[in-house]
Amino acid sequence: MSLRIHNLEEYELAYANSIANPEEFWADIANNFQWEKPWSKVLDWNFTEPKVEWFLDAKLNITVNCLDRHIENNGHQTALIWEPNDPKENTIKFTYKDLLKEVSKMANVLKDLGVKKGDRVCLYMPMVPELSFAVLACARIGAIHSVVFAGFSANSISDRINDCQAGYVITTDALSRGAKQIPVKAVVDEALEMVTCVKKVLVVNRLNWPVHMLEGRDIWYHDIKGIVSEICEPEIMDAQDPLFILYTSGSTGKPKGVVHACGGYMVYAGYTFANVFQYEPNDVFWCTADIGWVTGHTYILYGPLMNASTSLMFEGIPTYPDPGRFWSIIDKHAVNIFYTAPTAIRSLMAAGIDHVLAYGLYSLKTLGSVGEPINVEAWHWYHTHVGKGKCPVIDTWWQTETGGVMISALAGISPLIPAHAGFPLPGIQTVLLNSDGIEIAENDVEGYLAIKFPWPGMLRTTWGDHERCRINYFDTYKGYYFTGDGAKRNSDGQYRILGRVDDVINVSGHRFGTAEIENAINLNKQVIESAVVGYPHDIKGQGIYAFVIPAKMPVDPNVLKDEIIETIVAQIGRIAKPDKIQIVSGLPKTRSGKIMRRILRKIAEGETENLGDTSTLLDPMVVDEIKNGAIK
Ligand code: WT7
Repeated sequence: MSLRIHNLEEYELAYANSIANPEEFWADIANNFQWEKPWSKVLDWNFTEPKVEWFLDAKLNITVNCLDRHIENNGHQTALIWEPNDPKENTIKFTYKDLLKEVSKMANVLKDLGVKKGDRVCLYMPMVPELSFAVLACARIGAIHSVVFAGFSANSISDRINDCQAGYVITTDALSRGAKQIPVKAVVDEALEMVTCVKKVLVVNRLNWPVHMLEGRDIWYHDIKGIVSEICEPEIMDAQDPLFILYTSGSTGKPKGVVHACGGYMVYAGYTFANVFQYEPNDVFWCTADIGWVTGHTYILYGPLMNASTSLMFEGIPTYPDPGRFWSIIDKHAVNIFYTAPTAIRSLMAAGIDHVLAYGLYSLKTLGSVGEPINVEAWHWYHTHVGKGKCPVIDTWWQTETGGVMISALAGISPLIPAHAGFPLPGIQTVLLNSDGIEIAENDVEGYLAIKFPWPGMLRTTWGDHERCRINYFDTYKGYYFTGDGAKRNSDGQYRILGRVDDVINVSGHRFGTAEIENAINLNKQVIESAVVGYPHDIKGQGIYAFVIPAKMPVDPNVLKDEIIETIVAQIGRIAKPDKIQIVSGLPKTRSGKIMRRILRKIAEGETENLGDTSTLLDPMVVDEIKNGAIK
């Protein structure tokens, strides 16, 4: 069997095989990759501990599959196209040969700094080529990368560094996003005041900004990159060794470090990229995500590179210098497969049709969506105006924890229904559960989305706290991996994702725990208590609505609101700014003191009728006050 599925019959056959005999199925797929040593057993698992091990005793290095393997036949092919924030600056292209050289140099620099196999390296960088080199360089030498999106605050960085005890940080002087330039190294410096484990900081120069370099700790990349060897032998990794940690928010206060393992992640990233996007040799693939999120890990770097494809990496934002930037880049580089988020589509829709009509977009053949449910209107706009009616729009559902796409149409193969992710990929045993945790067998139903069998890309643990992994994903419904999402299954068996059913808000495709934001708000000395809920937002999908009880009613509530925003920006980052803050004298609580979020959600949605039974509340009057003061 080969990696690629070519038609619906092959998909159905692959799916049936993958259920009947999962181990044989994944072993066949895994045979398409280069291993230093084969596995002794395909899978060992239980969802009670949980313990999931794929390709036991196998040895590999993922970068060999991303780079070395392609040198002979595809060495001169472009691996990475880097498009800068400023369209007047030059594009840079790296062939597979170039990329292997750059990654090897970075890897040798890291070795020089003292980085060893198993060490954690925190990457806090904008979308510059060196970020890609750094990710792959860590993988090359067996260090565990933990990329932190460059929009997070110093506090968020220090929490993550402390959690995984990273000994090294790679960063840049500053970054350019749209019209803004932002200090980056200074944020790292602030973060490191709260950290004692970091030994070295490697700084890549992006904007020639003057930065403070701490002697003995901080090193410019350009000072040593010229003096290291261009060859770096790959570290041979066990399939169960961690490849990376990526922090993500859950329903509890503190983000958790999702851990992916070398062997399983490699197989799943490679397999899903080939099949979901139906990549053909010489296609140019563009995923607009930031490498700070899992989408960038799997579909800018690992997935495309393992398939010897040409992957585009963009430093900027969709609206700079104008809302035609995405379309101009597609024409400039003849992009064939374009993968973006509904929030970007909606914001470009709002900017007006002229920006997209100004471009030919002839090269496009497939469009993808990820990160949140895509509404029917955005789906049609994307299909009609970007795809000119001729490109399939695939809606890919997955999570940081799943490593790669789980439910999606295969481009050009599967039937499409707007706003439906579709059928699970081969090997993915999705189920809908009712609130008692019982599988719902029929179609045309709604339930909690869970997975009942392991897949190679699944998370292995949460860093430093395996119990947390168990409680978060395997405890709610015994015997299942619970996704936290609700979904519908239509009469054909296609899935439509409805969104989170836990206390997680999805803002522009980014996850925040309500508790995480509340904890930040409560740090303000004037705040007694707060409650955060999500509400439908035209562009972001969900907006953040905060209800805040102050110690005493402020004369000017705006001063307090500004302060609260400042605290959130400092604690989490700009990306978690609430859209609405309502100062209230109390919150709807049950007699046992539990906040009735259901009521707050309805009020935030603009619903003032049908709030359900409020008579059991401790103080039913407070609901009227909140309703009357609700922010439109
Ligand atoms: C959550 C995971 C992995 C992609 C980036 C987000 C939501 C993701 C879809 C989709 C509806 C989606 C879910 C999921 N989500 N893709 N196609 N349709 N919802 O990764 O930060 O780990 O978030 O994003 O709610 O649980 P993430």
